[in-house]
Amino acid sequence: MKRIGILTSGGDAPGMNACIRAAVRTALAHNLSVFGIRRGYTGLIDGDAVPLDRTAIRNTIHLGGTILETSRNSEFYTKDGRLKAAASIEKMGLDGIILIGGEGTFHGASLLAAETDPAALIGVPGSIDNDIYGTDYCIGFDTAANCAVEAIDRIRDTARSHERIFFIEVMGRTAGFLALESGIAGGAEELVIPEEEVSIDRISERIRRGFTIGKKSAIVVVAEGKTPGISFEIARQIGERLNFDTRVVVLGHLQRGGPPTLRDRVLGSLLGVAAVEALLEGRSGCMVGEIGGDLAYTPLEETWQRKKPLDEDLWRIFPFLSE
Ligand code: F6P
Repeated sequence: MKRIGILTSGGDAPGMNACIRAAVRTALAHNLSVFGIRRGYTGLIDGDAVPLDRTAIRNTIHLGGTILETSRNSEFYTKDGRLKAAASIEKMGLDGIILIGGEGTFHGASLLAAETDPAALIGVPGSIDNDIYGTDYCIGFDTAANCAVEAIDRIRDTARSHERIFFIEVMGRTAGFLALESGIAGGAEELVIPEEEVSIDRISERIRRGFTIGKKSAIVVVAEGKTPGISFEIARQIGERLNFDTRVVVLGHLQRGGPPTLRDRVLGSLLGVAAVEALLEGRSGCMVGEIGGDLAYTPLEETWQRKKPLDEDLWRIFPFLSE
């Protein structure tokens, strides 16, 4: 292993820069040359890479987004696109590549590895959705969840002042991790998560019960699920059912930006070092994550094929906390 590349792909996540920085410093300490592949799989296909030295990653640990930029590249999901990427990898002379991203990134990487095996591939989980199997937490989740909690706190002030029900929609795609943890931390009255069918009856009944014990406002955290914007329809139905004033706030991409939290900087740093060490140990075709405080290596196919379950205990305790 002499020459490695690093890329970030899919949705950006705060803490990705901490991971890049850690990987570069570890690689340089082992006398490897490091290249930053720009704009994710787009740059991999085009062979768009820049040398990464100490100067390139200096003063980046506190920055959100990704200094390497990213993309969602549909060409990489065609065989032709992957063959172009394999040819570029060979041209760039890369022996190993660290891929920081989520499900889509690892899906593409497993196809590339199965078809052409152009270099050793090590994944690092970076996604605010936290939905990647093989790690307790993904880089970016903690920052996004804290952003949602701050928003809930702010909205609670106005909800209470106006006696309204607020529906706060958080990201997370088909997973409810962001909704569940920010809902607990923000003291939400109700949750809508993709892991469970939406029940207008249940949500209305629980909010009504809250009003009978003295509550005058309520906050419902809604995971976007497969249909971003879903909270408008839910709010309409519940508002009509309870004859109550409702408002909707969709947090959207606010949750993806901003400086990473301590947790995301530490996790990004740990996994960045571990990814380079994995390459040096001769590993390939796996993602390095952290489970129960230990590093864990999961085959790339499993990271996106297996469904990561929600924390059952958190789901079980929510109803006690929200009354
Ligand atoms: O996967 C991260 C994520 O932020 C999801 O929560 C969200 O559904 C999606 O990306 C939004 O993607 P885009 O930035 O391409 O609109």
